[in-house]
Amino acid sequence: MAEPKTAELMDKIVSLCKRRGFIFQSSEIYGVINSFWDYGPLGVELRKNIRDCWWNDMVRRRDDVVGLESSIIMHPKVWEASGHVGGFTDPMVDCKASKQRFRADQIFFADVVVEGKTVGYVTVLESERIAEELQEKAETFKRKKAIQGKLEPIKARDFTEATPEEIPLIPSPATGEPGSLTPPRAFNMMFETHVGALSDESSVAYLRPETAQGMFVDFKAIVDTGRVKIPFGIAQIGKSFRNEITPRNFIFRSREFEQMEMEYFISDDDDWAKWHRYWIDWCRDWLVSVGIPASALSEYNHPKEKLAFYSKGTTDLMFKYPFGVQELWGIAARGDYDLTQHGKASGQPMEYFDDVKKKRYVPHVIEPAVGVDRILLAILCSAYCEDQAPNEKGEMETRVVMKLHPRIAPIKVAVFPLLKNKPELVKKAQEVRDLLRPYMTVFYDEAGAIGRRYRRQDEAGTPFGLTIDFDTLGEKGPELADTVTLRERDTMKQERVKISDLVSKLMERVR
Ligand code: GAP
Repeated sequence: MAEPKTAELMDKIVSLCKRRGFIFQSSEIYGVINSFWDYGPLGVELRKNIRDCWWNDMVRRRDDVVGLESSIIMHPKVWEASGHVGGFTDPMVDCKASKQRFRADQIFFADVVVEGKTVGYVTVLESERIAEELQEKAETFKRKKAIQGKLEPIKARDFTEATPEEIPLIPSPATGEPGSLTPPRAFNMMFETHVGALSDESSVAYLRPETAQGMFVDFKAIVDTGRVKIPFGIAQIGKSFRNEITPRNFIFRSREFEQMEMEYFISDDDDWAKWHRYWIDWCRDWLVSVGIPASALSEYNHPKEKLAFYSKGTTDLMFKYPFGVQELWGIAARGDYDLTQHGKASGQPMEYFDDVKKKRYVPHVIEPAVGVDRILLAILCSAYCEDQAPNEKGEMETRVVMKLHPRIAPIKVAVFPLLKNKPELVKKAQEVRDLLRPYMTVFYDEAGAIGRRYRRQDEAGTPFGLTIDFDTLGEKGPELADTVTLRERDTMKQERVKISDLVSKLMERVR
Protein backbone atom coordinates (compact mmCIF):
# COMPACT_ATOMS: atom_id res chain seq x y z
CA MET A 1 0.00 0.00 0.00
CA ALA A 2 1.22 3.51 -0.84
CA GLU A 3 2.87 5.40 2.03
CA PRO A 4 0.73 8.33 3.27
CA LYS A 5 2.09 11.76 2.22
CA THR A 6 4.17 13.51 4.86
CA ALA A 7 1.69 16.14 6.18
CA GLU A 8 -1.09 13.59 5.99
CA LEU A 9 1.08 11.05 7.85
CA MET A 10 1.73 13.53 10.68
CA ASP A 11 -2.02 14.24 10.97
CA LYS A 12 -2.72 10.52 11.12
CA ILE A 13 -0.13 9.97 13.86
CA VAL A 14 -1.43 12.91 15.94
CA SER A 15 -4.99 11.67 15.60
CA LEU A 16 -4.06 8.08 16.50
CA CYS A 17 -2.16 9.35 19.54
CA LYS A 18 -5.29 11.11 20.77
CA ARG A 19 -7.71 8.31 19.86
CA ARG A 20 -5.71 5.55 21.52
CA GLY A 21 -4.50 7.55 24.52
CA PHE A 22 -0.83 8.09 23.74
CA ILE A 23 -0.67 11.92 23.82
CA PHE A 24 -3.12 14.78 24.51
CA GLN A 25 -2.64 18.54 24.53
CA SER A 26 -2.26 19.84 28.07
CA SER A 27 -5.27 21.50 29.74
CA GLU A 28 -7.63 20.74 26.85
CA ILE A 29 -10.79 21.52 28.81
CA TYR A 30 -9.52 25.09 29.26
CA GLY A 31 -8.68 25.52 25.57
CA VAL A 32 -5.12 24.07 25.87
CA ILE A 33 -1.81 25.62 26.82
CA ASN A 34 0.35 25.72 23.73
CA SER A 35 3.34 23.39 23.54
CA PHE A 36 2.74 21.43 26.73
CA TRP A 37 1.67 17.81 26.41
CA ASP A 38 0.09 15.10 28.53
CA TYR A 39 0.87 11.44 28.04
CA GLY A 40 -2.15 9.14 28.38
CA PRO A 41 -2.27 5.49 29.48
CA LEU A 42 -0.35 4.13 26.46
CA GLY A 43 1.98 7.13 26.12
CA VAL A 44 3.09 6.95 29.71
CA GLU A 45 4.01 3.25 29.35
CA LEU A 46 5.88 3.94 26.11
CA ARG A 47 7.86 6.79 27.73
CA LYS A 48 8.66 4.65 30.73
CA ASN A 49 9.90 1.84 28.50
CA ILE A 50 12.13 4.25 26.53
CA ARG A 51 13.57 5.64 29.75
CA ASP A 52 14.06 2.19 31.27
CA CYS A 53 15.79 0.81 28.16
CA TRP A 54 18.14 3.80 28.08
CA TRP A 55 18.85 3.62 31.80
CA ASN A 56 19.52 -0.12 31.71
CA ASP A 57 21.80 0.12 28.69
CA MET A 58 23.52 3.37 29.66
CA VAL A 59 23.93 2.86 33.42
CA ARG A 60 23.04 -0.55 34.80
CA ARG A 61 24.76 -2.68 32.18
CA ARG A 62 28.01 -0.68 32.24
CA ASP A 63 30.78 -0.44 34.81
CA ASP A 64 31.85 3.04 33.77
CA VAL A 65 28.60 5.08 34.04
CA VAL A 66 26.78 6.04 37.24
CA GLY A 67 23.41 7.72 37.70
CA LEU A 68 22.31 11.02 39.19
CA GLU A 69 19.06 12.80 39.87
CA SER A 70 19.78 16.45 40.58
CA SER A 71 17.19 19.09 41.48
CA ILE A 72 15.33 20.96 38.75
CA ILE A 73 15.88 24.32 40.44
CA MET A 74 19.54 24.90 41.19
CA HIS A 75 21.50 27.84 42.60
CA PRO A 76 21.08 30.73 40.11
CA LYS A 77 24.88 31.09 39.95
CA VAL A 78 24.97 27.71 38.16
CA TRP A 79 23.31 29.31 35.16
CA GLU A 80 25.57 32.36 35.24
CA ALA A 81 28.66 30.15 35.22
CA SER A 82 27.30 27.88 32.49
CA GLY A 83 26.60 30.88 30.25
CA HIS A 84 22.83 30.37 30.15
CA VAL A 85 21.90 33.65 31.87
CA GLY A 86 23.97 35.63 29.38
CA GLY A 87 23.68 33.57 26.25
CA PHE A 88 20.84 31.03 26.18
CA THR A 89 18.93 33.09 23.68
CA ASP A 90 17.21 32.76 20.35
CA PRO A 91 16.88 35.70 17.95
CA MET A 92 13.20 36.73 18.06
CA VAL A 93 11.25 38.75 15.48
CA ASP A 94 7.72 40.14 15.93
CA CYS A 95 5.22 40.83 13.17
CA LYS A 96 3.52 44.04 14.36
CA ALA A 97 0.54 43.52 12.05
CA SER A 98 -0.37 39.93 12.92
CA LYS A 99 1.14 39.90 16.46
CA GLN A 100 2.86 36.65 15.55
CA ARG A 101 6.34 35.87 16.82
CA PHE A 102 9.06 34.10 14.85
CA ARG A 103 12.60 32.88 15.31
CA ALA A 104 14.76 35.02 13.01
CA ASP A 105 16.80 32.03 11.91
CA GLN A 106 13.61 30.26 10.78
CA ILE A 107 12.53 33.08 8.45
CA PHE A 108 14.19 32.85 5.03
CA PHE A 109 14.13 35.62 2.47
CA ALA A 110 15.65 36.52 -0.87
CA ASP A 111 15.85 39.60 -3.04
CA VAL A 112 13.97 39.34 -6.32
CA VAL A 113 16.59 40.39 -8.86
CA VAL A 114 15.60 41.15 -12.46
CA GLU A 115 18.38 42.03 -14.93
CA GLY A 116 20.77 42.89 -12.07
CA LYS A 117 18.26 45.14 -10.22
CA THR A 118 16.51 44.28 -6.89
CA VAL A 119 12.78 44.80 -7.48
CA GLY A 120 11.46 43.40 -4.17
CA TYR A 121 11.76 40.66 -1.54
CA VAL A 122 10.09 37.31 -0.87
CA THR A 123 9.88 35.30 2.38
CA VAL A 124 9.22 31.72 3.46
CA LEU A 125 9.40 29.87 6.76
CA GLU A 126 11.96 27.10 7.30
CA SER A 127 11.02 23.92 5.44
CA GLU A 128 12.57 21.12 3.41
CA ARG A 129 12.18 23.22 0.19
CA ILE A 130 13.37 26.71 1.14
CA ALA A 131 15.18 27.47 -2.14
CA GLU A 132 12.40 26.07 -4.36
CA GLU A 133 9.66 27.90 -2.46
CA LEU A 134 11.56 31.21 -2.62
CA GLN A 135 12.15 30.76 -6.36
CA GLU A 136 8.43 30.04 -6.91
CA LYS A 137 7.46 33.12 -4.87
CA ALA A 138 9.95 35.28 -6.77
CA GLU A 139 8.44 34.15 -10.09
CA THR A 140 4.90 34.89 -8.83
CA PHE A 141 6.03 38.32 -7.54
CA LYS A 142 7.53 39.23 -10.94
CA ARG A 143 4.44 38.01 -12.82
CA LYS A 144 1.96 39.84 -10.54
CA LYS A 145 3.90 43.11 -10.79
CA ALA A 146 4.20 42.58 -14.59
CA ILE A 147 7.96 43.17 -14.44
CA GLN A 148 9.74 42.52 -17.74
CA GLY A 149 13.20 40.96 -18.04
CA LYS A 150 15.06 37.88 -16.85
CA LEU A 151 14.66 36.80 -13.22
CA GLU A 152 17.98 35.84 -11.67
CA PRO A 153 18.28 32.70 -9.48
CA ILE A 154 17.39 33.57 -5.88
CA LYS A 155 19.94 33.48 -3.03
CA ALA A 156 18.31 32.43 0.26
CA ARG A 157 19.39 34.13 3.49
CA ASP A 158 17.94 33.87 6.97
CA PHE A 159 16.52 36.92 8.72
CA THR A 160 19.54 37.30 11.04
CA GLU A 161 21.49 38.22 7.89
CA ALA A 162 19.12 41.03 6.83
CA THR A 163 20.64 44.54 6.89
CA PRO A 164 18.78 47.35 8.75
CA GLU A 165 17.87 48.85 5.35
CA GLU A 166 16.38 45.57 4.13
CA ILE A 167 14.25 44.79 7.23
CA PRO A 168 11.35 47.19 6.34
CA LEU A 169 11.27 45.77 2.80
CA ILE A 170 11.01 42.08 3.70
CA PRO A 171 7.44 40.68 3.73
CA SER A 172 6.16 39.14 6.96
CA PRO A 173 5.59 35.36 6.68
CA ALA A 174 2.26 35.98 8.44
CA THR A 175 0.76 38.67 6.17
CA GLY A 176 2.88 38.52 3.01
CA GLU A 177 3.30 42.32 3.26
CA PRO A 178 6.53 44.23 4.04
CA GLY A 179 6.94 46.77 6.83
CA SER A 180 5.72 44.89 9.90
CA LEU A 181 8.75 42.82 10.97
CA THR A 182 10.88 44.11 13.85
CA PRO A 183 14.68 43.73 13.88
CA PRO A 184 15.72 40.49 15.65
CA ARG A 185 16.36 40.76 19.38
CA ALA A 186 17.83 38.23 21.79
CA PHE A 187 15.21 36.36 23.81
CA ASN A 188 16.36 34.30 26.81
CA MET A 189 14.58 30.97 26.84
CA MET A 190 14.93 30.18 30.54
CA PHE A 191 11.76 30.13 32.63
CA GLU A 192 12.20 32.37 35.66
CA THR A 193 10.64 31.75 39.04
CA HIS A 194 11.12 32.93 42.63
CA VAL A 195 12.25 30.91 45.61
CA GLY A 196 10.80 31.79 49.01
CA ALA A 197 8.21 34.30 50.13
CA LEU A 198 9.78 37.39 48.56
CA SER A 199 9.47 38.10 44.87
CA ASP A 200 12.40 40.34 44.17
CA GLU A 201 15.70 40.17 42.32
CA SER A 202 17.41 38.32 45.14
CA SER A 203 14.94 35.43 44.95
CA VAL A 204 15.14 34.83 41.18
CA ALA A 205 15.75 31.22 40.20
CA TYR A 206 15.32 29.25 36.96
CA LEU A 207 13.70 26.03 35.85
CA ARG A 208 16.64 24.17 34.34
CA PRO A 209 16.89 24.34 30.55
CA GLU A 210 19.04 21.16 30.47
CA THR A 211 19.91 18.38 32.90
CA ALA A 212 23.64 18.49 32.05
CA GLN A 213 24.66 21.15 34.59
CA GLY A 214 23.66 18.82 37.45
CA MET A 215 26.40 16.42 36.37
CA PHE A 216 29.05 19.16 36.29
CA VAL A 217 28.04 20.74 39.58
CA ASP A 218 28.00 17.35 41.37
CA PHE A 219 31.20 16.12 39.67
CA LYS A 220 33.35 16.39 42.79
CA ALA A 221 30.72 14.87 45.06
CA ILE A 222 30.54 11.83 42.79
CA VAL A 223 34.34 11.49 42.46
CA ASP A 224 34.55 11.67 46.25
CA THR A 225 32.29 8.63 46.60
CA GLY A 226 35.28 6.67 45.28
CA ARG A 227 33.16 4.59 42.91
CA VAL A 228 34.47 6.09 39.69
CA LYS A 229 37.79 6.32 37.82
CA ILE A 230 38.45 8.21 34.61
CA PRO A 231 37.18 7.51 32.00
CA PHE A 232 33.67 7.45 33.46
CA GLY A 233 30.25 8.96 32.88
CA ILE A 234 27.41 10.47 34.92
CA ALA A 235 23.92 10.02 33.47
CA GLN A 236 20.63 11.65 34.32
CA ILE A 237 17.04 11.56 33.07
CA GLY A 238 14.76 14.45 33.91
CA LYS A 239 12.52 17.29 32.87
CA SER A 240 13.92 20.43 31.26
CA PHE A 241 12.11 23.65 30.40
CA ARG A 242 12.66 26.14 27.59
CA ASN A 243 10.42 29.03 26.69
CA GLU A 244 10.71 28.22 22.97
CA ILE A 245 9.66 31.04 20.63
CA THR A 246 8.26 28.75 17.99
CA PRO A 247 7.37 25.39 19.47
CA ARG A 248 6.02 23.14 16.73
CA ASN A 249 5.65 19.80 15.06
CA PHE A 250 3.64 18.10 17.79
CA ILE A 251 5.99 17.02 20.61
CA PHE A 252 9.18 17.70 18.61
CA ARG A 253 9.88 21.10 20.14
CA SER A 254 8.02 21.71 23.41
CA ARG A 255 8.41 24.07 26.32
CA GLU A 256 8.47 21.27 28.90
CA PHE A 257 10.29 18.12 27.82
CA GLU A 258 12.44 15.37 29.21
CA GLN A 259 16.12 14.83 28.54
CA MET A 260 18.42 11.83 28.88
CA GLU A 261 21.96 13.15 29.09
CA MET A 262 25.30 11.64 29.94
CA GLU A 263 28.60 13.42 30.60
CA TYR A 264 31.54 11.14 29.85
CA PHE A 265 34.73 12.43 31.48
CA ILE A 266 38.08 11.59 29.91
CA SER A 267 41.63 12.63 30.74
CA ASP A 268 42.92 15.91 29.33
CA ASP A 269 45.39 14.11 27.03
CA ASP A 270 43.05 11.34 25.85
CA ASP A 271 41.98 10.97 22.20
CA TRP A 272 38.67 12.92 22.37
CA ALA A 273 37.84 12.15 18.70
CA LYS A 274 37.97 8.39 19.42
CA TRP A 275 35.54 8.77 22.34
CA HIS A 276 33.31 11.10 20.33
CA ARG A 277 33.05 8.48 17.58
CA TYR A 278 32.46 5.75 20.15
CA TRP A 279 29.44 7.60 21.61
CA ILE A 280 27.98 8.53 18.21
CA ASP A 281 28.04 4.84 17.27
CA TRP A 282 26.62 3.82 20.65
CA CYS A 283 23.69 6.23 20.28
CA ARG A 284 22.94 5.11 16.74
CA ASP A 285 23.01 1.40 17.75
CA TRP A 286 20.77 2.15 20.71
CA LEU A 287 18.17 3.88 18.52
CA VAL A 288 18.15 0.85 16.22
CA SER A 289 17.71 -1.44 19.24
CA VAL A 290 14.43 0.30 20.12
CA GLY A 291 13.02 0.00 16.63
CA ILE A 292 14.23 3.07 14.69
CA PRO A 293 15.44 1.93 11.26
CA ALA A 294 19.10 2.75 10.54
CA SER A 295 17.99 3.94 7.09
CA ALA A 296 16.03 6.84 8.69
CA LEU A 297 19.11 8.08 10.57
CA SER A 298 21.95 10.27 9.34
CA GLU A 299 24.77 12.35 10.83
CA TYR A 300 25.24 16.10 10.69
CA ASN A 301 28.60 17.55 11.70
CA HIS A 302 28.31 21.15 12.89
CA PRO A 303 30.67 23.31 10.80
CA LYS A 304 33.77 24.43 12.72
CA GLU A 305 32.92 28.16 12.30
CA LYS A 306 29.50 27.70 13.96
CA LEU A 307 30.84 25.87 17.04
CA ALA A 308 31.26 27.59 20.42
CA PHE A 309 34.91 28.58 20.96
CA TYR A 310 35.48 25.78 23.50
CA SER A 311 33.82 23.02 21.47
CA LYS A 312 36.00 20.48 19.70
CA GLY A 313 33.19 19.03 17.62
CA THR A 314 29.43 18.35 17.65
CA THR A 315 27.64 15.69 15.64
CA ASP A 316 23.86 15.40 15.56
CA LEU A 317 22.12 12.14 14.80
CA MET A 318 19.31 13.23 12.51
CA PHE A 319 16.00 11.44 11.98
CA LYS A 320 13.80 11.66 8.91
CA TYR A 321 10.58 12.94 10.53
CA PRO A 322 7.54 13.40 8.23
CA PHE A 323 8.16 17.19 8.44
CA GLY A 324 11.83 16.88 7.44
CA VAL A 325 15.22 15.62 8.57
CA GLN A 326 15.74 17.04 12.05
CA GLU A 327 18.05 16.74 15.06
CA LEU A 328 17.30 13.82 17.32
CA TRP A 329 20.44 13.34 19.43
CA GLY A 330 23.40 15.71 19.84
CA ILE A 331 26.84 14.32 20.71
CA ALA A 332 29.20 17.13 21.69
CA ALA A 333 32.89 17.15 22.60
CA ARG A 334 32.95 20.09 25.04
CA GLY A 335 36.59 20.03 26.22
CA ASP A 336 37.07 21.14 29.85
CA TYR A 337 34.86 24.23 29.51
CA ASP A 338 32.01 23.35 31.87
CA LEU A 339 34.09 22.03 34.76
CA THR A 340 36.53 24.94 34.41
CA GLN A 341 33.68 27.47 34.48
CA HIS A 342 32.15 25.97 37.63
CA GLY A 343 35.59 25.71 39.21
CA LYS A 344 36.18 29.42 38.64
CA ALA A 345 32.70 30.60 39.62
CA SER A 346 32.40 28.51 42.79
CA GLY A 347 36.02 28.87 43.88
CA GLN A 348 36.22 25.07 44.15
CA PRO A 349 38.59 23.73 41.49
CA MET A 350 36.97 20.86 39.59
CA GLU A 351 40.17 18.88 39.35
CA TYR A 352 40.65 15.16 39.34
CA PHE A 353 43.68 13.35 40.70
CA ASP A 354 44.57 10.56 38.30
CA ASP A 355 46.37 7.93 40.35
CA VAL A 356 47.37 5.98 37.23
CA LYS A 357 48.93 8.97 35.46
CA LYS A 358 49.96 10.50 38.80
CA LYS A 359 48.74 13.96 37.85
CA ARG A 360 45.95 16.41 38.59
CA TYR A 361 43.85 17.89 35.79
CA VAL A 362 40.40 19.16 34.79
CA PRO A 363 38.80 16.32 32.79
CA HIS A 364 37.40 16.81 29.30
CA VAL A 365 33.89 15.69 28.45
CA ILE A 366 31.89 14.04 25.67
CA GLU A 367 28.14 14.70 26.02
CA PRO A 368 25.43 12.62 24.31
CA ALA A 369 22.19 14.58 24.93
CA VAL A 370 18.76 13.52 23.75
CA GLY A 371 15.09 14.26 24.40
CA VAL A 372 12.75 11.42 25.43
CA ASP A 373 9.90 13.12 23.56
CA ARG A 374 11.92 13.36 20.34
CA ILE A 375 12.82 9.67 20.53
CA LEU A 376 9.19 8.85 21.26
CA LEU A 377 8.07 10.82 18.20
CA ALA A 378 10.71 9.14 16.03
CA ILE A 379 9.52 5.76 17.31
CA LEU A 380 5.87 6.58 16.58
CA CYS A 381 6.75 7.80 13.06
CA SER A 382 8.82 4.67 12.38
CA ALA A 383 6.11 2.36 13.70
CA TYR A 384 3.05 3.79 11.92
CA CYS A 385 1.93 1.46 9.13
CA GLU A 386 -1.13 0.81 7.02
CA ASP A 387 -1.75 -2.53 5.35
CA GLN A 388 -4.67 -4.60 4.10
CA ALA A 389 -6.34 -7.25 6.25
CA PRO A 390 -9.63 -9.16 6.03
CA ASN A 391 -12.50 -8.05 8.29
CA GLU A 392 -15.07 -10.37 9.92
CA LYS A 393 -16.87 -10.82 6.60
CA GLY A 394 -13.62 -11.71 4.83
CA GLU A 395 -13.53 -8.37 2.96
CA MET A 396 -10.14 -6.66 2.72
CA GLU A 397 -9.88 -3.35 4.55
CA THR A 398 -7.15 -0.96 5.63
CA ARG A 399 -5.53 -1.92 8.91
CA VAL A 400 -3.62 0.69 10.91
CA VAL A 401 -0.84 -0.95 12.88
CA MET A 402 1.86 0.51 15.10
CA LYS A 403 4.83 -1.79 14.59
CA LEU A 404 6.46 -0.90 17.89
CA HIS A 405 9.49 -2.92 18.89
CA PRO A 406 8.38 -5.44 21.57
CA ARG A 407 11.11 -4.01 23.88
CA ILE A 408 9.28 -0.70 24.15
CA ALA A 409 5.65 -1.53 23.26
CA PRO A 410 3.36 -0.20 26.04
CA ILE A 411 1.39 -3.45 26.23
CA LYS A 412 3.26 -6.65 25.47
CA VAL A 413 0.32 -9.02 25.17
CA ALA A 414 -3.46 -8.79 24.98
CA VAL A 415 -5.64 -11.61 26.32
CA PHE A 416 -9.07 -12.23 24.81
CA PRO A 417 -11.73 -14.76 25.79
CA LEU A 418 -13.50 -15.63 22.52
CA LEU A 419 -16.91 -14.83 24.05
CA LYS A 420 -17.65 -12.80 27.16
CA ASN A 421 -20.88 -14.58 28.01
CA LYS A 422 -19.23 -17.99 28.52
CA PRO A 423 -17.99 -18.07 32.13
CA GLU A 424 -15.58 -21.00 31.45
CA LEU A 425 -13.82 -18.99 28.71
CA VAL A 426 -13.70 -15.83 30.82
CA LYS A 427 -12.32 -17.74 33.82
CA LYS A 428 -9.59 -19.39 31.74
CA ALA A 429 -8.66 -16.08 30.05
CA GLN A 430 -8.37 -14.39 33.44
CA GLU A 431 -6.12 -17.20 34.64
CA VAL A 432 -3.87 -16.65 31.60
CA ARG A 433 -3.84 -12.87 32.28
CA ASP A 434 -2.85 -13.45 35.92
CA LEU A 435 -0.18 -15.94 34.90
CA LEU A 436 1.51 -13.37 32.62
CA ARG A 437 1.06 -10.19 34.68
CA PRO A 438 4.08 -10.64 36.95
CA TYR A 439 6.31 -10.71 33.85
CA MET A 440 4.93 -8.12 31.43
CA THR A 441 2.17 -5.57 30.77
CA VAL A 442 -1.01 -7.45 29.87
CA PHE A 443 -4.26 -6.01 28.58
CA TYR A 444 -7.42 -8.03 29.10
CA ASP A 445 -10.27 -7.29 26.68
CA GLU A 446 -13.58 -9.11 26.33
CA ALA A 447 -15.59 -6.35 24.60
CA GLY A 448 -16.75 -6.73 21.00
CA ALA A 449 -15.98 -9.04 18.09
CA ILE A 450 -12.56 -10.66 18.19
CA GLY A 451 -11.48 -8.96 14.94
CA ARG A 452 -12.22 -5.52 16.41
CA ARG A 453 -10.30 -6.37 19.55
CA TYR A 454 -7.28 -7.32 17.42
CA ARG A 455 -7.54 -4.03 15.49
CA ARG A 456 -7.59 -1.98 18.70
CA GLN A 457 -4.41 -3.69 19.85
CA ASP A 458 -2.79 -3.27 16.42
CA GLU A 459 -3.26 0.48 16.82
CA ALA A 460 -1.88 0.33 20.35
CA GLY A 461 1.21 -1.48 19.02
CA THR A 462 0.67 -4.62 21.13
CA PRO A 463 2.97 -7.24 19.57
CA PHE A 464 1.07 -10.36 20.71
CA GLY A 465 -2.57 -11.38 21.16
CA LEU A 466 -3.83 -14.53 22.89
CA THR A 467 -7.29 -15.94 22.29
CA ILE A 468 -8.88 -18.41 24.67
CA ASP A 469 -11.48 -20.47 22.80
CA PHE A 470 -13.42 -23.71 23.13
CA ASP A 471 -10.37 -25.71 22.07
CA THR A 472 -8.59 -24.32 25.15
CA LEU A 473 -11.33 -25.94 27.25
CA GLY A 474 -10.64 -29.27 25.54
CA GLU A 475 -13.91 -29.38 23.61
CA LYS A 476 -12.16 -30.53 20.42
CA GLY A 477 -10.19 -33.21 22.18
CA PRO A 478 -7.55 -33.48 24.89
CA GLU A 479 -4.58 -32.64 22.57
CA LEU A 480 -5.72 -28.98 22.29
CA ALA A 481 -6.80 -28.60 25.92
CA ASP A 482 -4.91 -25.80 27.74
CA THR A 483 -3.53 -24.35 24.51
CA VAL A 484 -4.29 -20.84 23.19
CA THR A 485 -4.00 -19.06 19.87
CA LEU A 486 -0.99 -16.75 19.79
CA ARG A 487 -1.35 -14.07 17.12
CA GLU A 488 1.61 -12.04 15.97
CA ARG A 489 0.74 -8.37 15.26
CA ASP A 490 2.90 -7.65 12.21
CA THR A 491 2.40 -10.85 10.22
CA MET A 492 -1.03 -11.68 11.71
CA LYS A 493 0.19 -15.31 11.79
CA GLN A 494 -1.44 -17.50 14.39
CA GLU A 495 -0.03 -20.54 16.19
CA ARG A 496 -1.27 -22.81 18.93
CA VAL A 497 0.78 -22.62 22.13
CA LYS A 498 0.52 -24.49 25.43
CA ILE A 499 -0.40 -22.22 28.34
CA SER A 500 2.49 -23.73 30.29
CA ASP A 501 4.94 -22.51 27.57
CA LEU A 502 3.58 -18.97 27.34
CA VAL A 503 5.83 -17.23 29.87
CA SER A 504 9.09 -18.51 28.38
CA LYS A 505 7.95 -18.09 24.79
CA LEU A 506 6.79 -14.49 25.27
CA MET A 507 9.63 -13.40 27.57
CA GLU A 508 12.13 -14.47 24.95
CA ARG A 509 10.45 -12.15 22.43
CA VAL A 510 9.67 -9.07 24.52
CA ARG A 511 13.09 -8.69 26.16
N1 GAP B 1 23.15 19.70 27.34
C1 GAP B 1 23.13 19.90 25.93
C2 GAP B 1 21.79 20.17 25.40
O1 GAP B 1 20.83 20.32 26.14
P1 GAP B 1 20.50 20.56 23.18
O2 GAP B 1 20.92 20.26 21.77
O3 GAP B 1 20.01 21.91 23.48
O4 GAP B 1 21.77 20.21 24.05
C3 GAP B 1 19.72 18.11 23.62
O5 GAP B 1 19.42 19.49 23.62
C4 GAP B 1 18.54 17.33 23.10
O6 GAP B 1 17.38 17.63 23.86
C5 GAP B 1 18.15 17.63 21.65
O7 GAP B 1 18.93 16.88 20.75
C6 GAP B 1 16.70 17.17 21.64
O8 GAP B 1 16.62 15.77 21.50
C7 GAP B 1 16.22 17.56 23.03
N2 GAP B 1 15.55 18.89 23.02
C8 GAP B 1 16.11 20.10 23.06
N3 GAP B 1 15.18 21.07 23.06
C9 GAP B 1 13.98 20.45 23.02
C10 GAP B 1 12.62 20.91 23.00
N4 GAP B 1 12.31 22.20 23.07
N5 GAP B 1 11.63 19.98 22.94
C11 GAP B 1 11.93 18.67 22.90
N6 GAP B 1 13.18 18.18 22.93
C12 GAP B 1 14.21 19.05 22.98
